[in-house]
Amino acid sequence: METKIVVVKDPYSDSIDVACEVLRSGGLVAFPTETVYGLGAVATNPEAVKKIFEVKGRPQDNPLIVHLSSIEQITNFAYLDEKFVPVIKKLSPGPITFVLRKKDVIPAEVTAGLDTVGIRIPAHPVAQRLIDCSGPIAAPSANLSGRPSPTDAQSVIEDLKGLIECIIDAGPSAFGIESTIVDLTREKPVVLRPGPITLEELNEIFKEFGGVEYHKTNMEINKPLAPGMKYRHYAPDKPLRILESNALKDFINTNTLILCTEETKDSLLKDAENVYIIGQFKKPYTIAQNLYKSLRFIDKSPYSDAVIEKFPEEGLFFSIMNRIKKAAIKK
Ligand code: TXA
Ligand code: MG
Repeated sequence: METKIVVVKDPYSDSIDVACEVLRSGGLVAFPTETVYGLGAVATNPEAVKKIFEVKGRPQDNPLIVHLSSIEQITNFAYLDEKFVPVIKKLSPGPITFVLRKKDVIPAEVTAGLDTVGIRIPAHPVAQRLIDCSGPIAAPSANLSGRPSPTDAQSVIEDLKGLIECIIDAGPSAFGIESTIVDLTREKPVVLRPGPITLEELNEIFKEFGGVEYHKTNMEINKPLAPGMKYRHYAPDKPLRILESNALKDFINTNTLILCTEETKDSLLKDAENVYIIGQFKKPYTIAQNLYKSLRFIDKSPYSDAVIEKFPEEGLFFSIMNRIKKAAIKK
């Protein structure tokens, strides 16, 4: 299949019309959001949605997120308790997904048969325009299943060129890791996936509901609440280990690639040539932005394996470590 690559510099130009037409006619479009690139199909078209699973090689039990362009649209697709509206308004549009009880218009193909649906309102203007033009878009991240999510069009091209109708290139994603997922169908709001909105921020925002619980989903749990989180994920083909920054010294100028912060390179690894900088410790968001590109680089590099710096699990680093740990699970 020929994949159209549409470069969108100005989100308000007509260049996204091509992508919109592809979606409307049942095709797949990779599109930018402020977290990562998504692989979209019109959410109310079950045949189009099925193709997402085929193209990605995605396990059938892993539901997709439905992307809308405004908060007002939510009740067309899901049941929403009024008491959560102020909180949703604080966080959306943005890098967060809410799990709600679904209405019948959402096909079972989207939710992998669950009676709940993940709803996200991305803030990216290109994503918003696309949704306005095509209707609600069901989309997972635009990578082949198991690979690091794409944070720019080049990474989408690596995984999906020739397999889908269209890829929109609107530059790098601002956050670089996937949305925080909060399940609002339970007694207390439950965080199913940590992300750009941190647990600390959520506890503050959900104060009147007693804060949020964090649900640790992992490979050992048979029935995880966010089915996607049970898999090895974000992973390079080559082995990856997580080490304290001090221990990285043992790998200076070996055949192992060292992924670390600028600070660690400057203080501990001055003479090392086998280093890939993943961002600044002082600015954790730069690490989130570069993380998946860095993980993709491991396989492109000439090194046989890689080690990555360990971070304290708080704030945004909690979400970053969640991804790194999944990437480091052995095959
Ligand atoms: O930032 C993001 O969330 C990106 C962009 C494209 O929006 N999307 C994304 O999708 O990361 P994906 O498919 O890679 O991850 C979706 C996650 C999976 O772990 C899935 O299990 C969970 O959301 N999920 C979706 N619907 C759910 C539901 N009804 N209940 C529980 N978990 C759900
Ligand atoms: Mg994904």
